[in-house]
Amino acid sequence: MFGGLKINTEHTIRFLPHNINVKVVKGTTILEAAIKYGIGIRSVCGGKGLCGKCRVIVRRGRVEVRESNLLKREELERGYVLACLAKVVEDVEVEVPADSQIGRPKLHSSVVLPSIKPKPMIRQEVLPIHNLLNTLRTYASSKDVLEKAYEVSSKGLEKVSIILNDTRKKVIDVSEGEKGLYGLAVDIGTTKIAVALVDVIGGRVLDTASEFNRQLIYGEDVISRIRFVLDRADGLKEMQKAVIDTINTIIDTFCKKYRISGEDIYMVTTAGNTVMTYLFVGLNPYPLIRSFKERVEVSRTPYWLEARDVGLNVNRNSDVYVLPCAGRFLGGDVVGDIITAGLNFSEEPALLIDIGTNTEVVIGCRDWFLGTTAPAGPAFEGWGLTHGVRAITGAIESVIIDPKTCKASYRAIDNARPIGVCGSGYIDLLAQLFINGLIDVFGKFYRDSDCPYIRKRGEKYEYVIVPAEESAIGKDIVVTEEDLYNIIDSKSSVCSAVSILLKKMLLTVYDIKRVYVCGAFGNYLNLNSAMTIGMIPEFTNASIEYIGNGSLGGAILTLLSKDYRVEAERVAKLLASIELLLDPDFMDEYQAGFMLPGKKELFPTWRDASRGIKPWRRHN
Ligand code: FES
Repeated sequence: MFGGLKINTEHTIRFLPHNINVKVVKGTTILEAAIKYGIGIRSVCGGKGLCGKCRVIVRRGRVEVRESNLLKREELERGYVLACLAKVVEDVEVEVPADSQIGRPKLHSSVVLPSIKPKPMIRQEVLPIHNLLNTLRTYASSKDVLEKAYEVSSKGLEKVSIILNDTRKKVIDVSEGEKGLYGLAVDIGTTKIAVALVDVIGGRVLDTASEFNRQLIYGEDVISRIRFVLDRADGLKEMQKAVIDTINTIIDTFCKKYRISGEDIYMVTTAGNTVMTYLFVGLNPYPLIRSFKERVEVSRTPYWLEARDVGLNVNRNSDVYVLPCAGRFLGGDVVGDIITAGLNFSEEPALLIDIGTNTEVVIGCRDWFLGTTAPAGPAFEGWGLTHGVRAITGAIESVIIDPKTCKASYRAIDNARPIGVCGSGYIDLLAQLFINGLIDVFGKFYRDSDCPYIRKRGEKYEYVIVPAEESAIGKDIVVTEEDLYNIIDSKSSVCSAVSILLKKMLLTVYDIKRVYVCGAFGNYLNLNSAMTIGMIPEFTNASIEYIGNGSLGGAILTLLSKDYRVEAERVAKLLASIELLLDPDFMDEYQAGFMLPGKKELFPTWRDASRGIKPWRRHN
């Protein structure tokens, strides 16, 4: 009340198609409201008004907007605003269009694990009651374990069961009888968090699930998130909480499905890239990116946390083992990839590639490993491309072009109406346009082509993949020359990383006998397309294996086996890294990739063969 006048400082935002009403104070941006209430709106730049991904439509009511040249006139006329630049000044109804939503991720949690003999860090022992005190003296125990021990021993039982962590030399729990021991393995990805529920005694993975990392609402790339940590006093805490909340959501789902309690989960292992590891354990990751001209030393020893300290909904005495990192660009996720693929037991040099926004590449065998990270950029996640989207429902994930008609046919995730194209779809597209003679070796559309799906818009050429009437966004889904350039840019970066590692170790494409493809993206990547465009060299003597989510694999293996934990720590110490951008050969290698497919020594047969491709003509 002010002088008898009530000032209304609260307004309602109705989010569509979610049909959720939320209350916010006047002046809150639509994006801030969405973050607070868990409405998934894309925000690649972390709300800085730079990426244009947070487009929403104001259906009713008025908002105060800061101008942006990221919106076209037609869009403004249709009520589009950028959610991060639109402040609420009265009750509004806001529609979040399909291509601005953070949809549900396609589940990429599968992993091919080696067969192992379980030898977990935790175990259960049934003891005569008179031995309990001795054990409690030998191992460390928290106050609540001691209280529980007292309570159980006063019941006059002959035997009790205790759950121990041998590695940490501590008692986790005391119970009246034997019980199931569950563990949780977690892959903390920049985009997605994948979790496996593991029966530790039986050595079995019971289930896997994944969710988008809730840190996404602070920005899709790690730089935006680090900026958020620097800008806010509680930024680091908030960022850590976002990860913990995501994991806890998955734990709740598992607990309901398997009728267990979080208290029955006695051990957690996690793996993630170095920035994600820092954010999870509560370390400021800024020193990792302060200067790319200098090397940064990163601890290669694992972190141990107490579940109670980080707020995970598991047994409060559980330990959390965080796989060690090997450098600022080679985190515990790569260590996980290596032990899952078994590179650490290989007798001859093998190559491992984990494709993503940052693509990690490692060459090595039992006693040596050399790795690097290629800054492939966010194009594989769909960022910066005209109709790029992540691998969510409706994203086109594969494309084939009919050589007779030059029309594209495609497959969209969940067979939904297409909303855009995700990374694997773009790689297929580039490959298909190239082999069908619709683009030249520089990724330019042939100007004199009579393909009916290539058209000129203003000064720019584009290829229509999906006409408006088939798409879910009410307009044609196209790929432009600029998009193709961005994909070529990303693939050149990946290929140059492989090439430089081969060179450093005096190896050629013929010397590699095994290639392991891992990571979420790798699972859906058409390797033929990747080779056609010159992203992965032509390893003529190698067998290729998809291992899936190797980072999750590493977390599972260390959860189930002390030997694998020792191996992970050995690998982290041995893994030498090259900082690609500081390497004197990088520029040459990178530029060579701009002429498809790339250098002859990397594509010994395909490079010459591709020169025989003729430009497409209607009556070819
Ligand atoms: Fe709004 Fe990037 S422009 S989040």
